[in-house]
Amino acid sequence: MLKYLLPLALIVGPAAAQQQPMAGEGLRVARQWCAACHVVSRDMPPPAADAASSFPGIADRPGTTEAGLRVFLQTPHANMPNWQLSRAEMDAVVGYILSLRR
Ligand code: HEC
Repeated sequence: MLKYLLPLALIVGPAAAQQQPMAGEGLRVARQWCAACHVVSRDMPPPAADAASSFPGIADRPGTTEAGLRVFLQTPHANMPNWQLSRAEMDAVVGYILSLRR
């Protein structure tokens, strides 16, 4: 199933990021690339170095927008030497962060 959905997600891009199914991929990306420094889900204990805001906290801020997250994530990131998210990973993780909003 996933192997048919994935190419579609690449084509649809940003639109797909706003839909819930992409949130699963976003959580995967967040766990892989972000969890060392950020709390990436509401049930995750804080990482050892908790200098960075939690994703649920970021999501809950009124000023957080999809465009704002994208701009932030396109610039080099605190102490991250290999800051290279693919377009699809970026879409997924932005969609995921926004999905945490309540
Ligand atoms: C090496 C540690 C580290 C990793 C890994 C990391 N971040 Fe960060 N991030 C930080 C720090 C430190 C800050 C706060 C300083 C800053 O703004 O640069 C931050 C800030 C942010 C912010 C802005 C927070 C705010 O308060 O507005 C976002 C959004 C963000 N990170 C997303 C991500 C995403 C998405 C990933 C994974 C793809 C990620 N970060 C991976 C350390 C990290």
